[in-house]
Amino acid sequence: MKKFVEVFPDKQALLARALVIVTSQIQAAIQEKEKCTIALAGGSTPKPLYESIATQNLPTDKIHLFWSDERYVPPEHPDSNQRMVRKAWLDRVDFPQGNLHAMPTGAGNPTVDAQTYEKELLAFFQIPAGEFPIFDLILLGMGDDGHTASLFPHTEALSVKDRLVTVGNKDGQPRLTFTASLINHASCVLFLVAGANKRLALEQVFASSADPMTYPSRLIMPQGELWWLLDQAASM
Ligand code: 6PG
Repeated sequence: MKKFVEVFPDKQALLARALVIVTSQIQAAIQEKEKCTIALAGGSTPKPLYESIATQNLPTDKIHLFWSDERYVPPEHPDSNQRMVRKAWLDRVDFPQGNLHAMPTGAGNPTVDAQTYEKELLAFFQIPAGEFPIFDLILLGMGDDGHTASLFPHTEALSVKDRLVTVGNKDGQPRLTFTASLINHASCVLFLVAGANKRLALEQVFASSADPMTYPSRLIMPQGELWWLLDQAASM
């Protein structure tokens, strides 16, 4: 793993750098393989980034979008990460529907939907069960409790090692989430962390020793590149 940590004066500068990294990762993957696979983060931090990506005139026919986690709500629900990305990016560009791989939330059972998404990943990447796909890029945020994706502190999802997708739990609310194992197979993982409210958790995530069950972002150690883009307010 190669780790990069960059600190920016504010969120706007952080997101400008993120745009450069994301677009260069996309172009490199397409150059190499004629396609790029990206898993998107939810939450509020990356929304302006998705709005900026929409202006980049990217070859969307060669980009396959996935989500690294999803709230267990219908796609039109205000809390839906799929809805957030559609409004920020997808509704503004011509994106082939077949290239959009949103997490399903319609089975009425998050475990069933997690298994469905896992099967979709295995089929798309053409790998057998038990193997892990290698995403070109996975975007992640970090909560003020040190969670990432929907891997929340002291939840069962943190211990799931043999699956690609599992059910996360935020205060009793189910979510679908990539497992740490899947994230750690990525070629590149990019964390976007802004805001003073993240500082204490970030200190623990970066500390020489702290409990990853308490600070799940510590579990993220990808085989490829790990980028942390921080604003001044969030960093030590
Ligand atoms: C989600 C995200 C979650 C998010 C962090 C940070 O579904 O909310 O996947 O992990 O990245 O909670 O959220 P903010 O960017 O809103 O601070």
